Amino acid sequence: MTTPEDLTRLSFAAVKAAEDAAIAASRFVGRGDKIAADQAAVDALRRGLNAMPMRGRIVIGEGERDEAPMLYIGEEVGTGEGPEIDIALDPLEGTSLTAKGMANALVLLAIAPRGGLLHAPDTYMDKIAAGPGVPAGTLDLDRTVTENVKSLAKAKGVSPDRLTACVLERERHGAIVAELRKNGVRVMLIPDGDVAGVIATTDPATGVDFYIGQGGAPEGVLAASALRCAGGWIQTRLFFRNDDERARAAKAGVKDLNRKYDLTDMVTGHCVFIATGVTDGALLRGVHRTNGGYALETLVLNSADASSRRIRATRPE
Ligand code: FBP
Repeated sequence: MTTPEDLTRLSFAAVKAAEDAAIAASRFVGRGDKIAADQAAVDALRRGLNAMPMRGRIVIGEGERDEAPMLYIGEEVGTGEGPEIDIALDPLEGTSLTAKGMANALVLLAIAPRGGLLHAPDTYMDKIAAGPGVPAGTLDLDRTVTENVKSLAKAKGVSPDRLTACVLERERHGAIVAELRKNGVRVMLIPDGDVAGVIATTDPATGVDFYIGQGGAPEGVLAASALRCAGGWIQTRLFFRNDDERARAAKAGVKDLNRKYDLTDMVTGHCVFIATGVTDGALLRGVHRTNGGYALETLVLNSADASSRRIRATRPE
């Protein structure tokens, strides 16, 4: 059986794989080609994962097997010897951010024992999340925005106008943003990258109290992995735009399409979460050229000992 120690042992190699992907993607920063940036990250991350001594399986990846030739859901990676590991990844979270040379592009990876991560389909997901210290049940997707704001303000012992929410800037969030502001809540809009948006709730320095809105379901599992390690709480529900997406969910093994998932439904046991910066952002510094190499920054969160490490590396060209 895969143990938390196995995850810890593998985490160094996983960091190196994430760094490789960040370096590869960084060559495309500001070059206007998000597909090429993503492909470079995918290639490098896959090489790194295949060098890891594990029997790895992708559960959150680049998509279904018929639409993603690499790092597709179900692909087996690793040397084929060692612990059985499930992997959630986003080789480049913020492909557009990278192509446009904007802040907060990241390489993301989570590893867990086999069966430890929700097999989420590549659809949208409604998400609501808060950092450590907010009791489970304070926020709920079935409540109105106003009810959630009041409940969170009460739990934190502040008035609603002292709260800040992070929201992806999308037309579909217009009503949520309007209701937040009507309640006096500050709204921090982000152009992309809702995993970092959720993680922001765990760091008091960001000022973000909660995250609300709809984003990718794969990103939801990655965000839950980070919260599993850093503390905090998230509730999600898959959102389907059509029957094709419902079919994808059924294929991924989802039985109740309206189910609400809490943190422990999405990450059932221990995990390690890894994020490496591609472009500079609030969470991490991006890849920078040094004399003859690269400087990188990676965040490693480990649920086994609740540790949080920032690894600053220099790598030769
Ligand atoms: P990229 O596809 O450019 O990497 O964007 C990632 C992201 O912003 C996620 O963080 C988020 O969950 C999702 O896209 C939102 O999707 P959409 O852009 O369709 O609203």
